[in-house]
Amino acid sequence: MSATLAKLERARTDLAEARTLPEVKQIHDIAEGARTYAKAAKLGRESQNYAAEIALLASRKAGELLKQLQKSKGGEHTHRTAASVAGVSEYRKALKDTDTPERTAQHWQKLSGVPEADVQKYVATVRKKHSGEITAAGLMREVKKNARRTRPTTIVVGSAKPCGRKLGSFDCCSVVQGDCRELLPQLPTGTIEAIVCDPPYGVDAAAWDGRVPYEMVSDFLRVASGTVVWFGGGKNMNADIRAFNPVPERTLIWYPPFIQRSASSNRIFYKFHPIYCWRLPNQHDGPGRDVLDTKTEGAHWWNHHCSKPVALMRLLVGFAPADGIVLDPFAGSGSTLVAAQSTGRHFLGFEKDAKYVEVCNARLSGVIPRDGEAVEKAA
Ligand SMILES: C[S@@+](CC[C@H](N)C(=O)[O-])C[C@H]1O[C@@H](n2cnc3c(N)ncnc32)[C@H](O)[C@@H]1O
Repeated sequence: MSATLAKLERARTDLAEARTLPEVKQIHDIAEGARTYAKAAKLGRESQNYAAEIALLASRKAGELLKQLQKSKGGEHTHRTAASVAGVSEYRKALKDTDTPERTAQHWQKLSGVPEADVQKYVATVRKKHSGEITAAGLMREVKKNARRTRPTTIVVGSAKPCGRKLGSFDCCSVVQGDCRELLPQLPTGTIEAIVCDPPYGVDAAAWDGRVPYEMVSDFLRVASGTVVWFGGGKNMNADIRAFNPVPERTLIWYPPFIQRSASSNRIFYKFHPIYCWRLPNQHDGPGRDVLDTKTEGAHWWNHHCSKPVALMRLLVGFAPADGIVLDPFAGSGSTLVAAQSTGRHFLGFEKDAKYVEVCNARLSGVIPRDGEAVEKAA
């Protein structure tokens, strides 16, 4: 056992010095042999993993060397130079001399692409568990898992075109998929001019409808330097006003052409949506009266049965300065964002449901009609 260990220690030091594929391959084979022996002889997980780590490091180094040989093949060029032809033959020769199958060579090159920090983290995690085995396949699984976790949340296919400005870590003029309760604290104080939002109403209007997130108003007032506008459900208006802290400074009414079938009391259906407002400006392009009777649009395009009419949202984003930034943390199908975009304002949307993020992006990029007028034109 001590002879094997000494051989491994030597292999580890030699690996740092090795410069050619045959040298690295030899170290790999020694380590791999020691790993197999440690496993078969039940020498314990620690010895097995010690050898496995050296084999993994050797595979990565072999991958790096092979990549260098690959590069001298001449990349994508169709016109083959003498040097690139020589490169191809050198690569082939290296594989032949070391008896390395092409598949193994490709696998090693993949392993060599994993950042050093990720490899160290993987090895340390497996060691900590005491029971786990260090393997190349295990490393690649971990890399894939991490990539899924850190996948960017901004959907770029058929998406809104970010204007290039940054709002904290978010792209201005984009839609971010996620829970706004987690995303909002990432926005620095006063980053945007206005918030126009339409959160859950607390009346079971749909699967996404739940508790009214009253507590968010203080963060809205922190993030916005100006107006905050919040759609409520008619049924809860009195309770809402009492629950907000600070209480709304003004309430506008949207009087749509439908009744809210899900909400009635005393055998009277509700017919209005309150729109709670804080910090309304004196000068604005917003509505000139407090009851808004904008009609609804052909919402079937947007696949969201609470889509607000863009004409209504255009009035409300008018509370933001002409070139200001409007945030909708409950973007839904994106009506607020379309309204901001179509009036020359900047915008940011948060929406937790991926399918609605796609709808927002499709509308903002014009892949599907943006608003009622566009629907009529398309008909
Ligand atoms: C009333 S709808 C908004 C409709 C939108 N005004 C429109 O015109 O399409 C509320 C939206 O908020 C989303 N939502 C609910 N809770 C959320 C949260 N915590 N973070 C982000 N989005 C959320 C729901 O998925 C739903 O699409």
